[in-house]
Amino acid sequence: MSAAAVTDPTATSAHKALKTAGVIWFLIATIGQWIFVYYIAMYYGRKTLTGDYGTINDRGLISGYVDGDFVGNILFLSHVLLATVMIVGGTLQLTPPLRKRFPALHRWTGRSFILIALILAIGGYYMTWAQGVRLSDIGALGVSFNAHLIVVFAGLTLFYAVKRRIDVHRRWAMRLFIVANGVWFFRICLMGWYMMNQGPMGNSRQLDGPADIAISFACYLLPLAVLTLYQWAADSPSGAFKWSMAGVTLLGGLATGFGVFAAYLMMWSPHF
Ligand code: HEM
Repeated sequence: MSAAAVTDPTATSAHKALKTAGVIWFLIATIGQWIFVYYIAMYYGRKTLTGDYGTINDRGLISGYVDGDFVGNILFLSHVLLATVMIVGGTLQLTPPLRKRFPALHRWTGRSFILIALILAIGGYYMTWAQGVRLSDIGALGVSFNAHLIVVFAGLTLFYAVKRRIDVHRRWAMRLFIVANGVWFFRICLMGWYMMNQGPMGNSRQLDGPADIAISFACYLLPLAVLTLYQWAADSPSGAFKWSMAGVTLLGGLATGFGVFAAYLMMWSPHF
């Protein structure tokens, strides 16, 4: 065996285990994101297509559809419906066989993903702070910081793609994937928390309880931290580091599956 093969961090069984754990997490997350998309299509999509706007707020929204507020309603409905395109596009974008077989499609879905993520982040920020669609100031800080990260990460993803620094681009694209799905992470974390504690614990109706505030930041910062460690482990020659991160990623997959199951039961399936 050559010296290069011995020092190549991608040639070990620990590296394969790490990559397999990453794929398992991604598959679980994709299933959970598609269930979220199905809920949005069945609830908001159906009501929009049939013109049944009057009952949109039945699922208990902060503001939702407001009779007579044309601009506000367009903003709200486009925000919700564009979310489906971004989420489906994001999962396809990170699927390696599609990326390798259809590079032109990858470029176009990538540009669309970045554009829609920016529209959702800026539109959501506007609804929250300019239109006052929030339950509490402090409770809205988590999703607002999330919006800032989306804008910064989208810029860096695009910058490195244009510069043809594909390896760095790919890493920022993965980070963007995490923060752009921050609102999905928030829902699975909150519902997972409720299910684990058999009800609210440290939560409030205004989403400004200590657990709400912690979850509103940790829901995307924790996955971001795990992703960063995962990427470091992938580069590292250390087998122990790779095995540890493979374990952490699998645990993340279990936690994600648990949160998706809780959100499916309590939040989404009642509206299918
Ligand atoms: C970029 C990814 C985003 C996605 C995929 C997304 C998705 C959604 C969805 C699906 C809803 C409907 C609520 C539900 O039925 O669960 C919604 C509502 C809303 N989102 Fe976003 N959103 C994103 C970003 C943001 C950001 C960054 C903010 C704020 C800074 C925000 C603020 C809001 C507000 C204020 C509503 C209306 C809530 C109501 O009236 O009850 N969104 N979003």
